[in-house]
Amino acid sequence: MNKIAIIPQPQKLEELGGCFILKEDATIAWNGNVAANQEAEFLAEYLRPATGFALPVVEGEGTITFSLPSQPEANDMGFFPEGYKLVAKDGKVAITGESAAALGRAIQTIRQLFPAEIYATTKQNVVWEFPEVVIEDKPQVQWRGMHLDVSRHFSPKDEIFRFIELLAQHKFSIFHWHLTDDQGWRIEIKKYPKLTEVGAWRKETLIGHDHSDRPHRFDGKPHGGFYTQEEIKEVVAFAARRHIIIIPEINTPGHAQAMIAAYPEFGMATLTTPEVRTRWHISHHVLNMEDATVEACKDIWREVFALFPSKYCHIGGDECPSNMWDDSKHTYELMIKRGITGDARNLQCWYTGELNKLFKEHGRRMIGWHEITHGDFNDTTAIPAWWWGGYDYVKLLERGFNIIQCSNQYLYFDYAQCEPIAEEPLAINNDPNGRAYTTEHVYSFDLYPSFLNEKQKSQILGCQAQLWREYIPTFKHLEYMAFPRATAFSEVLWTEKPRRNYRCFLKRLKAQRARFDVQGVNACDRP
Ligand code: ACM
Repeated sequence: MNKIAIIPQPQKLEELGGCFILKEDATIAWNGNVAANQEAEFLAEYLRPATGFALPVVEGEGTITFSLPSQPEANDMGFFPEGYKLVAKDGKVAITGESAAALGRAIQTIRQLFPAEIYATTKQNVVWEFPEVVIEDKPQVQWRGMHLDVSRHFSPKDEIFRFIELLAQHKFSIFHWHLTDDQGWRIEIKKYPKLTEVGAWRKETLIGHDHSDRPHRFDGKPHGGFYTQEEIKEVVAFAARRHIIIIPEINTPGHAQAMIAAYPEFGMATLTTPEVRTRWHISHHVLNMEDATVEACKDIWREVFALFPSKYCHIGGDECPSNMWDDSKHTYELMIKRGITGDARNLQCWYTGELNKLFKEHGRRMIGWHEITHGDFNDTTAIPAWWWGGYDYVKLLERGFNIIQCSNQYLYFDYAQCEPIAEEPLAINNDPNGRAYTTEHVYSFDLYPSFLNEKQKSQILGCQAQLWREYIPTFKHLEYMAFPRATAFSEVLWTEKPRRNYRCFLKRLKAQRARFDVQGVNACDRP
């Protein structure tokens, strides 16, 4: 019988000594709130291909029974309680959850209890057994996020499905979908069709690092793609079934060159219309902040709200250079007209406030990278705090902001993961001074460091890792960069620090690698 190797590590786990065996005549049952029915169906669906068992779903008691005494309302952030208890004993498995989402997390635990072949998509000749056990479990934090940039390199819908499925297996709760940037606009907006007709395609892509002291070379190959609104709805539903909330990000007023290439009237007046960007780094093109441009951004958000039910939506806002505004007399006059004082960066601040009003009208919460706090914008939205070097997130906490930990010192999975990094595939940090962000380094991340007081800790709403895709062109490579670091990270998110142990994690990682192998996941094979 295989050993128990659950990742992330449950809160309490007691082995009972016996053995549970799933046989051909097994049933999956549900009782209590009807929301449990879907979870029972989902487990049956997950288990049928590899076992080849019919596994009928019935109301009442079965071989595996889901009980949901009541289905609570979502909390203020859109999350449901996720605590569950799983008892595998006397030939049966009983799972009780605090919500359907909690039962959903238990489903992933059950899959991990079985031999790894349970993840196969065809019938396997395996005895479907696991040790009898009592598990009591819940996460330490509800915002357990993974970001994915599909602008720098696009992933079609099926790859997004696969990625979200892998996130679900690790009990992530948030998928932050970075849908627009200088290098490509990836979401259909009906009112502005050129955003995808023009903005979703770039003529070629830079080869190698974007060092401005070297001549740039390009591959000469067009790159692009986008999601139709119908596809977005499918992805949202696919994630919702796995109790993963999708946070859409539409990045403005900087990182908007693809939008400006599609609609030059939204950009600053320049002699030539910019193309969808073919290099990395930061474009100096910014939105012009005219009334019509701000209205267009609001229209875009109205369409985005209609597609994504998430309470929180992400306005980007990072790395917005102000030089084009600084150099424009017209922009200066616009600022005076609107009563905006100080330097041109306050124009971004004003714009953030405008979007915030729109978000509130739609019952949404606006979040944006920490640069949106540079001016006097101080509404208490949640701030994904990414830059851990120069910008101290503690200052944000002191100013009263809630934050999402996104540290670029630990949680940027576009950084090479193994030493020597010169031997790793091209990544943002493989230069002579670069340092690998190893799985162990990721595992050591502390969401709630001891230098924070209790109030500051309570302002940390969650934590997420980032997958920027300048140097991650294919999905195979994406899997390599994501795993097993995301596996380690899932435990950082779920399990309190005192109960985490890297050596113990490595032992369980072996079992996870077998699960990856069955699914053909191209995880990095070290450590
Ligand atoms: C970021 O890395 N610019 C959020």
